[in-house]
Amino acid sequence: MNTLDLDKIDLSTEAPVQEPERQYYFMAKLRALVKEKSKKLGRPLVASAQTFGCQMNARDSEKIKGILETVGYEITESEKADFIVYNTCTVRENANLKVYGHLGLMGHEKKNNPDMMIALCGCMMQEPQVVEKIKKSYRFVNLVFGTHNLYKFAELVYTSMISDRMIIDVWKDTDKIVEDLPCDRKYFFKSGVNIMFGCNNFCSYCIVPYVRGRERSREPEEIIKEIRSLVADGVVEVMLLGQNVNSYGKNLKNPMSFAKLLEEVEKIEGLERIRFMTSHPKDLSDELIEVMAKSKKICQHLHLPLQSGSSRILKIMNRKYTKEHYLELVEKLRKAMPDISLTTDIIVGFPGETEEDFQETLDVVRKVRYDSAFTFIYSKRTGTPAAVMENQVPEDVVKDRFDRLLKEVQEIAKETSSRYAGQVVEVLAEEKNHQEEGYLTGRLSNNLLVHFKGDESLIGKLVSVHLTESRGFYYMGELV
Ligand code: SAH
Ligand code: SF4
Ligand code: F3S
Repeated sequence: MNTLDLDKIDLSTEAPVQEPERQYYFMAKLRALVKEKSKKLGRPLVASAQTFGCQMNARDSEKIKGILETVGYEITESEKADFIVYNTCTVRENANLKVYGHLGLMGHEKKNNPDMMIALCGCMMQEPQVVEKIKKSYRFVNLVFGTHNLYKFAELVYTSMISDRMIIDVWKDTDKIVEDLPCDRKYFFKSGVNIMFGCNNFCSYCIVPYVRGRERSREPEEIIKEIRSLVADGVVEVMLLGQNVNSYGKNLKNPMSFAKLLEEVEKIEGLERIRFMTSHPKDLSDELIEVMAKSKKICQHLHLPLQSGSSRILKIMNRKYTKEHYLELVEKLRKAMPDISLTTDIIVGFPGETEEDFQETLDVVRKVRYDSAFTFIYSKRTGTPAAVMENQVPEDVVKDRFDRLLKEVQEIAKETSSRYAGQVVEVLAEEKNHQEEGYLTGRLSNNLLVHFKGDESLIGKLVSVHLTESRGFYYMGELV
């Protein structure tokens, strides 16, 4: 269904029970409300979705914006809007604090503009103590919903628009996947595609399984259908999204491996590049390595979160692999794809981490030589097993280890990521360079960036670029 079809919906009848038809019914209702409000104000209404957290949330925000656009809002990046949605993250405490900061400012804003509407959604809202705090301290919020009922966004916004109370609707879990709702892509030439939702791994530090629910894979036909229609709409690169893509398809009626899914995606004509996130080392199969190695479209980049290099800590983290197993995987990957870029996530200061454990992490970093690594200070998340472990590491010790790790990671990344200097590589031109007039920024298969002189009309196209100079974490180049 597209926007035009909204005109055909009979609003004198009751809302359909079936999804997504029900949501299109509410979009039609909302569109009438938005039109009326905008007429009264004598200007278009403006909406904004502010996104925190990971690629999943970024994709969810595109769905939110797709619906807001469909019902008649103009979308803005700024926070000056008639309707503002905060799509929140709670993976670490600072993600959490940022949201309260923004909310504080919006409280003042709303005093000047009482018609303004504020909605909160995403992972933070799945935590009961957060919702309590919002009810108590941020009473001006209009709508609170969670990660499992995002597909009901149109209905929720409608309900909240005709009510003067705070509407709260947060579900504990769901087994439902609702497809075929509008989406407003950030880039016309690349897109994220959810292949699964939730997580079953329960790493002992991590809140995600509690706020995103149990693992659910989408049917391969649905995924292929979505990618086909994206490609027809100009997309050349997709990023397949899941908390642990390597366990894709295990619970489908007809189980299918992630590697098999990749082979199917590869067949889609017109699609040029395939990326995916995130790979859990415990489920990384030989089959996947084989498929990646022979593929022409799968990018030569793997994000393989390490978390810790100490087998002792990995066990307490419930990661289900050892340092040796991880290093073996890296060896296999490099043997099959000598040029592959490896990136990772590392946590410093997990409860009970000793200097020896930390040295093991440094050892893996030195052995693998990552192209880049996200390093995080361990953050205590209420409700996770690690939060109640007694031997939390003192702040100053963690800070010192973090600084040492960062230094090591950066020095290595600078060296490894300059290894392509002098080569001519295929680059996807992604955007105008913000610093230098007449320059474009493009991305290599391995995810590194290159800046080169070029015309805007090249954006969204694959071009050959000579990498003339490495500047540490990016390149300068020339179009060939
Ligand atoms: N599903 C992905 C990770 C999702 S969260 C995976 O398993 O790799 C992204 C990253 O945040 C994690 O890889 C981890 O490094 C970090 N992270 C998660 N919980 C954390 C916590 N409590 N404190 C610090 N970092 C954390
Ligand atoms: Fe969190 Fe582990 Fe699931 Fe990743 S695999 S989301 S780190 S529980
Ligand atoms: Fe954050 Fe939720 Fe992603 S907690 S990292 S936005 S799954």
